[in-house]
Amino acid sequence: MKDGLAWRRVLSVLLLIQGVRAIDLDLTSEDSIKNAASNAAYGMMIHYHGNETGHIPGKLPNTWWEGGAMFMTLIQYYHYTNDSTYNEEVISGMQWQAGDCDYMPSNYSSYIGNDDQMFWGLAAMTAAELNFPNSDDGYSWLALAQGVFNTQVARWDTSTCDGGMRWQIWTYEAGYTMKNTISNAGLFQLSARLARYTYNESYYEWAEKIWDWAASSPLLSNSTWNVADSTETTNDCATQGDDQWTYNYGAFLGGAAYMYNYTNGTTKWLDAVEGLLNVTLEKFFPAKHGGEIMSEILCEPTEVCNDNEIIFKGLLSGWLMLTAYLVPSTYDTILPKLQGSAKGAAGSCSGYSNDTCGVRWWNSSWDGWIGLEEQMSATSIFFANMLPFLDSSTAAPVTSTTGGNSTSDPSAGTTDTTDDDTTTSAITTGDKVGAAFLTSGLIGAWVVMIAWMLFF
Ligand SMILES: *[C@@H]1O[C@H](CO)[C@@H](O)[C@H](O)[C@H]1NC(C)=O
Ligand SMILES: *[C@@H]1O[C@H](CO)[C@@H](O)[C@H](O)[C@H]1NC(C)=O
Ligand SMILES: *[C@@H]1O[C@H](CO)[C@@H](O)[C@H](O)[C@H]1NC(C)=O
Ligand SMILES: *[C@@H]1O[C@H](CO)[C@@H](O)[C@H](O)[C@H]1NC(C)=O
Ligand SMILES: *[C@@H]1O[C@H](CO)[C@@H](O)[C@H](O)[C@H]1NC(C)=O
Ligand SMILES: *[C@@H]1O[C@H](CO)[C@@H](O)[C@H](O)[C@H]1NC(C)=O
Ligand SMILES: *[C@@H]1O[C@H](CO)[C@@H](O)[C@H](O)[C@H]1NC(C)=O
Ligand SMILES: *[C@@H]1O[C@H](CO)[C@@H](O)[C@H](O)[C@H]1NC(C)=O
Ligand SMILES: *[C@@H]1O[C@H](CO)[C@@H](O)[C@H](O)[C@H]1NC(C)=O
Ligand SMILES: *[C@@H]1O[C@H](CO)[C@@H](O)[C@H](O)[C@H]1NC(C)=O
Ligand SMILES: *[C@@H]1O[C@H](CO)[C@@H](O)[C@H](O)[C@H]1NC(C)=O
Repeated sequence: MKDGLAWRRVLSVLLLIQGVRAIDLDLTSEDSIKNAASNAAYGMMIHYHGNETGHIPGKLPNTWWEGGAMFMTLIQYYHYTNDSTYNEEVISGMQWQAGDCDYMPSNYSSYIGNDDQMFWGLAAMTAAELNFPNSDDGYSWLALAQGVFNTQVARWDTSTCDGGMRWQIWTYEAGYTMKNTISNAGLFQLSARLARYTYNESYYEWAEKIWDWAASSPLLSNSTWNVADSTETTNDCATQGDDQWTYNYGAFLGGAAYMYNYTNGTTKWLDAVEGLLNVTLEKFFPAKHGGEIMSEILCEPTEVCNDNEIIFKGLLSGWLMLTAYLVPSTYDTILPKLQGSAKGAAGSCSGYSNDTCGVRWWNSSWDGWIGLEEQMSATSIFFANMLPFLDSSTAAPVTSTTGGNSTSDPSAGTTDTTDDDTTTSAITTGDKVGAAFLTSGLIGAWVVMIAWMLFF
């Protein structure tokens, strides 16, 4: 684990006295928004050393999945600001970690979970949709997204719960017995986006299959629109781990927005978008903070968010912006929430007199926290406020017939043997112990710990 809680608490006590200069944000000015995003992105990238001698492109210390989320953020950042400062690093990191065109790089594949791999796939999909510059000699962005899709649907598990993606890929991982929302909602969203970009109906059919399965499981309710975090295969998905996280809602919401757009506005997907959006806004924009500032409600009140969780608000920010483009009737509802959150985040970015951003956005002051993850979420909420300045004809995600030209490879990733038993049988005990600590399986441990802190 990168930064211990105790360490952060000491910091917050010692350093709250410092830091009064906040990011000056004028939401009516394009330049002001770009400037805020630029500050936040700069503060994120001072934590990234992957392009320096002796470091590995795309690999962050103690975490692999966060690299995918970081590059996804930077791809959007470039698209919505035109600042190409970090493009070379994005391209080299995204290609270095690509494995055999499927984001299962052999250094880490023994502990990668479905959700970890999926985030890199979504980053590649984002690059294709936003016409991010191609790599001269690497895989196409679309092929990378297809590679992740192909390797993941091959793991669709009907041996329990009549379907669904397990959280972990390998039997020796603690989360193997779980089916969790982010793995399923993430693949649902990736499939929906591939359908819209390529117009290949197979991707749509998969997306709908994943959605319908989730709606029949404890993960997603299509009547109350509750999104749980996980369910257990050991009792055939009878029980629900009901922790409430922004990114779980956002992953389903974003995917439903693509389905709506791809199907030219069918009722099934409009209902899903409206239902999920309504609950998301009610829940994660608490009335007690004025109702317009996003909050990670499970971990912010007691300030116990771990690095993974600090990124979730940034992910939801990006997906809300996409939803406003893809389902134009949601624009008026979404914009004030993005604006209120950006104002709050700007107030929070007042640490160390150098615009360091904290975790909580609702107290208009810095909360003493510092990290790549805090900067990542702030970057996202700032660029998302370019929404009113950019017409959907230039800013919305493109498809293969509306300006996207990323090269398709429908069989990408299918020659990779990483998933074969022969490879896995060679894994040593050392790998297993490492895996338990290194994967995003940490989330599980944290859920338990947070529950403990909240209730005892
Ligand atoms: C801001 O100051 C802190 C404390 O000195 C430092 O750790 C951090 O790297 C600085 N951030 C930027 C963007 O310079
Ligand atoms: C890494 O990227 C940063 C930011 O773009 C740049 O300033 C630095 O020169 C790069 N380092 C190398 C070794 O390419
Ligand atoms: C980026 O630059 C292009 C070309 O000058 C312009 O059309 C586009 O609107 C700009 N985008 C942003 C986000 O400023
Ligand atoms: C795998 O590890 C080796 C040795 O540390 C390193 O040189 C290489 O860049 C790593 N590859 C990836 C994809 O991280
Ligand atoms: C459509 O996607 C499916 C599923 O990946 C693939 O098998 C098929 O070859 C694709 N069709 C075309 C025309 O690309
Ligand atoms: C809602 O989910 C239930 C349970 O899976 C399903 O039977 C029903 O058809 C779904 N309704 C819609 C509108 O998709
Ligand atoms: C959406 O509308 C376009 C243009 O009218 C049409 O070509 C396409 O087939 C429609 N897509 C679906 C999934 O109905
Ligand atoms: C959600 O829907 C309810 C019932 O229609 C409505 O009263 C409420 O204002 C909606 N909340 C948001 C945030 O849109
Ligand atoms: C799909 O998204 C595009 C791009 O934002 C938008 O112009 C179009 O109106 C959307 N389609 C529907 C059916 O809302
Ligand atoms: C808001 O931040 C200030 C310090 O700037 C602190 O005194 C106050 O307790 C915080 N409020 C809450 C609700 O955390
Ligand atoms: C896609 O179009 C851009 C220009 O818009 C061009 O630079 C790029 O080479 C094209 N990519 C492919 C794969 O054709």
